[in-house]
Amino acid sequence: MQVIRSVEEMKSFVGETRRAAKSLALVPTMGALHNGHLSLVRKAKNQCDTTVVSIFVNPTQFGPSEDLERYPRNLEKDVKALMPFNVSAAFVPSVEEMYPVGFATTVDPGAIGRRLEGASRPDHFRGVATVVLKLFNIVMPDRAYFGQKDFQQTVVISGLVKDFNLGVRMVLCPIVRDGDGVAVSSRNIYLAAEERVAARALNRSLEKARKLVWGGEILTHRVMGEMRRLLGSDSRVGLDYLEIVDPGSLNSVERITAGCLALVAVKIGSTRLIDNTILGPFGASEEDLLRISRANHCGAALPSPKSLQAS
Ligand code: PAJ
Repeated sequence: MQVIRSVEEMKSFVGETRRAAKSLALVPTMGALHNGHLSLVRKAKNQCDTTVVSIFVNPTQFGPSEDLERYPRNLEKDVKALMPFNVSAAFVPSVEEMYPVGFATTVDPGAIGRRLEGASRPDHFRGVATVVLKLFNIVMPDRAYFGQKDFQQTVVISGLVKDFNLGVRMVLCPIVRDGDGVAVSSRNIYLAAEERVAARALNRSLEKARKLVWGGEILTHRVMGEMRRLLGSDSRVGLDYLEIVDPGSLNSVERITAGCLALVAVKIGSTRLIDNTILGPFGASEEDLLRISRANHCGAALPSPKSLQAS
């Protein structure tokens, strides 16, 4: 695996890949790689000839009072984690490489970026959309892999792809959880032991919602009432938002239909955690993902020709 630090070198790597008519996958990350990230890498490797993983803690998506300084960084460990996957390259630019002096242009994703996460984290999605557009322009991937864990992020980026005619095929990957049901996250390391126990309330409330909907409940206020009760049963869990939304628009719904999602954000101690689930009277997660992906013009369960040239 090549570790590439400059934009110029990355572009020349991309040029070689293109000349060899190989399909190219990008997995954008901020490092501190865990099993969630690695599930995206596995999928990319299965679907494309060449896989690039970017590792860049993007300062523009952190608010002034957020955890940019203490965000975990360990390149050596990340490179080790990627080794078994036989990834072609890790793109690890510095902040100066991505945002040189004089950098001025940013991308505003519009109203969708101001709701939910965007309401609590103003400018977060401007930072995400800006850095992802840069990464797409540098790496020019055929496919880019994102986790359902950050569902609103995938909606913002699929809007970016559509609005700017980027021609990148987004692939949505299911949420990876630890044995206790907590969604894997780089920020879980901030949780003290008793906070980690409290964090289980998120998945418990999402499971409850799924069960209620499978059982025929379609009224949002009833499902949210049960979820709130579960989340409120632990005093360490401070609810930021809880909404049941349409997967394409992210607008709240009063009645739950196939593919709607429950999205939740909480604060436990000083750590902010987000999680979500797809609701609906159907089973397999690949099928669920495909359904919500269609609403977002993504392709979760695309048939996977190794070389896109041949497809
Ligand atoms: P980061 O938080 O490092 O996440 C990188 C990718 O991993 C995202 O697509 C995220 O949804 C996915 N991911 C994280 N935890 C996951 C889990 N438990 N299961 C499945 N996928 C998971 O998201 C970002 O970085 C940044 O905003 C980025 C897109 C790189 C732009 O800076």
